[in-house]
Amino acid sequence: MLPDDHVCLCFRVSLRKLTTYLECERPRVASELSQCHGAGTGCHWCVPFLEKLHAQWIDGKPIDVDMEPSEYAKRRADYRSQVK
Ligand code: FES
Repeated sequence: MLPDDHVCLCFRVSLRKLTTYLECERPRVASELSQCHGAGTGCHWCVPFLEKLHAQWIDGKPIDVDMEPSEYAKRRADYRSQVK
């Protein structure tokens, strides 16, 4: 995923925005990422990815979602079709 690709598709929150939030706000728990433009507070599908990004940041690892945006969007669409 590239920096301007969206991690939270509901609220169009990019990987870059989340990375900046992590570096500036230094959230203690992953759920605080919801303060970044509402990430994770819509359909909730991206929450595991937000948790992973937070864990990567805590561990000092590169912050990334290791998935192509098209595959990411497809999985979210599949998720949403199942929960409705
Ligand atoms: S994709 Fe993030 S809340 Fe729906």
